[in-house]
Amino acid sequence: MFYDPRSEDPKALGFTHNPWNALIAPRPIAWISTRSGAGVANLAPYSFFNAVSGAPPFVMFSSAGRKDTQRNIEETGEFVVNMATEDLVAALNDSCFPFGPDVDEFQRAGLTAVAARHLHHAPRLEETPVSIECRLSQIVELKTAAGAPVRSAAIFGEVVGIHVDERIIRNGRVDLALARPLSRLGYMDYAGLGPIFEVLRPESEPQERVAPYG
Ligand SMILES: Cc1cc2nc3c(=O)[nH]c(=O)nc-3n(C[C@H](O)[C@H](O)[C@H](O)COP(=O)(O)O)c2cc1C
Repeated sequence: MFYDPRSEDPKALGFTHNPWNALIAPRPIAWISTRSGAGVANLAPYSFFNAVSGAPPFVMFSSAGRKDTQRNIEETGEFVVNMATEDLVAALNDSCFPFGPDVDEFQRAGLTAVAARHLHHAPRLEETPVSIECRLSQIVELKTAAGAPVRSAAIFGEVVGIHVDERIIRNGRVDLALARPLSRLGYMDYAGLGPIFEVLRPESEPQERVAPYG
């Protein structure tokens, strides 16, 4: 199976839906809180999201069109990435409804906005175990290889504050089995964490393996 997404419709090849969102998965979900210049709090999920640098920490998410979140970030230069967790999936789903910019999605989803530590505008979500305070670093409007504009933008944030709930810290480590982060698959599918296992990096040059890897 091969197709060129620029010119071919995967549905014409037998897929029921465009499979793209199922191909780079699972994706972590940034549940992003912002505030508009007019002072309205906003909360929405974004799964085209990841950490893009460890030290110093930076995050990136992409917005398909200029949505309220992007507009608020442009207005205030701030956002908070809140961890989406399995127990909050119903509220997360409520918050993705395309409410107008005058609607506070915290209220609509029955959630609590609390003040961030280093940010002046964007609130953080109280119910989540991890919140990451970010200042806008840059917005990159995506272009094709030929330089034609497309409707998506990549938004980069410098991390300026990290909240971790004591309840998910065990023996000095963040215990993700306790946090139960939610991830996005393709279609309408979500996933929790599977089994967690540890792999130590090689201390010497790895021995040649005989495929298949085992
Ligand atoms: C789990 C999930 C992940 C999403 N990821 C994205 C994304 O990465 N980019 C995007 O533009 N919209 C994404 N959406 C859709 C937005 O959440 C939706 O358009 C929302 O209304 C935007 O809210 P806002 O206008 O308040 O920013 C996602 C929705 C869900 C449920």
